[in-house]
Amino acid sequence: MCPPEHFTVEYAINPWMDITVPVDAALAVKQWDLLRNTLVELGHTVHLLDPVAGLPDMVYAANGAFSVDGTVYGARFRYPQRADEADAHRAFYTRTDWKYETPEHVNEGEGDFTYLPGAHGGVILAGYGFRTEPAAHAEAQEMLGRPVVSLRLVDPAYYHLDTALAALDDHNVAYYPDAFSAASQRVLAQLFPDAVLADRADAEAFGLNLVSDGRHVILNTEAAAMGEKVRAAGYHPVHVELTELKRGGGSVKCAVAELRP
Ligand code: ARG
Repeated sequence: MCPPEHFTVEYAINPWMDITVPVDAALAVKQWDLLRNTLVELGHTVHLLDPVAGLPDMVYAANGAFSVDGTVYGARFRYPQRADEADAHRAFYTRTDWKYETPEHVNEGEGDFTYLPGAHGGVILAGYGFRTEPAAHAEAQEMLGRPVVSLRLVDPAYYHLDTALAALDDHNVAYYPDAFSAASQRVLAQLFPDAVLADRADAEAFGLNLVSDGRHVILNTEAAAMGEKVRAAGYHPVHVELTELKRGGGSVKCAVAELRP
C-alpha cells in the first residue's frame, strides 16, 4: 500500500475523476489508515511504498505490478501522468526476493490482472479495452507461465478489470456482467458457473473493487448491498469508508497490491 500523502485529483483519466471538486486530503489519509489497520487486524502483513510528490495516483498501489508465485510482471502505465509510478514498484520488488520481469506492453498490473490459483489448475484473468493492451496478456502468460484468459471491458466507467470483477477466494469470483462484452460474459459463465453476480448499483458503489482473503471480504461502506451478496455466498463482509479514494476512480482493491510470493 502507498499512503495518500500527495493524493489529489488534478487530471482526469477516467470518468470518475472531476478536477473541479477538491479532495479532502486529511480525510483521504484517515480513511486509508483505517483500511490499512483493518488488514493488519485481520492478520495480514502490509508493506508500504514511499509516496512520491507529483504522483497523486500512487495511492492506487494495485496498478504497479502483478505477481504470481514469486515472479513479478511489471506495469507500464497507459497515461504519461502515471508512468513514473512503475519505477517505485520495480524498486520495491528488486530490493527483495522477487524475480522481476520488465514489460514491453502497456499494462496496469492488478488493475487488469487477477489470479485464481484454485480455478482450472491456476488461471489468470485479464482485462482489456481501456488500459491494458491485449498484447500484454500474451506477454504475462509467457512471463508467468499460467494460462491467461482475456476479457473485454466495454463500459468506460469500469475501465479496469478490478472495477468489474474480483476474486473471492482461490477459485471463485464476483463480477458485474454488463461491464464485459457478450462473448466475455459467456467465457465467465463457462469458467465460473457459481460466481456471485453484481448489478449496476453494486458496480457503481465500487462494490467489486474488493479485497478478499478467502474468508473476509473487505469492501467500502457504500457497497452495502454487495456486502450482503458476499455474505449470502458464505463470506464475511468487512466495510471500510473510502469516499475520497472514489474521487480518483478507485476503492479498496485499487489501494492494495497483493503479493503472491
Ligand atoms: N486515477 C487512477 C487511474 O485512473 C485510478 C486507478 C484505480 N485503480 C484500480 N486498480 N482500478 O488510473
